[in-house]
Amino acid sequence: MSGYGRTEPVVSVENLHKVYKSKRTPFGRPVSVKALKGISLKVYPGEIVGIVGESGSGKTTLAKIIAGIESPTKGRIFVKKPIQMVFQDPFSSLNPRMKVKDIVVEPVEATRKIQKHQRFKLATELLKKVGLDEDALEKYPHEFSGGQRQRIAIARAISIDPQVLILDEPTSSLDVFVQAQIINLLLEIHKRTEAAYLFITHNIPLVINFAHRLVVMKDGEIVEEGNAWETYNTPKHPYTENLISSVPSKIFSLIG
Ligand SMILES: Nc1ncnc2c1ncn2[C@@H]1O[C@H](COP(=O)(O)OP(=O)(O)OP(=O)(O)O)[C@@H](O)[C@H]1O
Ligand SMILES: [Mg+2]
Repeated sequence: MSGYGRTEPVVSVENLHKVYKSKRTPFGRPVSVKALKGISLKVYPGEIVGIVGESGSGKTTLAKIIAGIESPTKGRIFVKKPIQMVFQDPFSSLNPRMKVKDIVVEPVEATRKIQKHQRFKLATELLKKVGLDEDALEKYPHEFSGGQRQRIAIARAISIDPQVLILDEPTSSLDVFVQAQIINLLLEIHKRTEAAYLFITHNIPLVINFAHRLVVMKDGEIVEEGNAWETYNTPKHPYTENLISSVPSKIFSLIG
């Protein structure tokens, strides 16, 4: 993807650091965790960047900082708005007391006023875009399956036509068949919107099927990054090699 170098990035972070000060102090003194130790990353329009790395390597922390949910301890962030994030667990990321029709338009309403009839139309269109029908409008999140809930979360995220969509393990709480459906939906949305995707996953064989670039994180740092297929087939760092050999590769035959 050499052309990306000539355009302006939609996300650019420089030397990001994040220190969490833990309140739990087993020995009576404050414990701090260095979750990010100097991350620099640029993401270009329409690019799909796969972010991988073992548990605790700082992927979610990086995602939250880019999405503006958390602030860094140190470093520079440039993000071309709008930006949205889809979380791993659609059970806890959707407000259980809100109806679907209100959930999906909420990000829009945070930026502008919409009239009642437009609201209904917008909510219906958003549901259609994620393969759900009008029946869903008056229901609550608990009335849906995990896959359907993730569709609702995606509808909500795309409501403001984000230029950047952060997907933090968006399918890992779902069974393999539903995972493939959600991935296909996300790829279809990508084709249509050309939003940049930051796709966090533990499933490297899956993500290399559609990511342009792979970013490998370890202990709050990027240890390797490059073209997704090249990095997968010829990893330069032993950590990447280990990571690749330790994940199952069941799902990618289901993506079409
Ligand atoms: N709110 C918090 N308070 C204290 N420490 C935290 C907090 N959030 C994350 N951490 C710590 O920061 C480090 C990075 O966590 P993070 O959630 O970013 O990892 P991750 O790569 O997303 O892991 P996983 O693959 O399990 O989701 C870990 O050591 C974690 O325990
Ligand atoms: Mg995480």
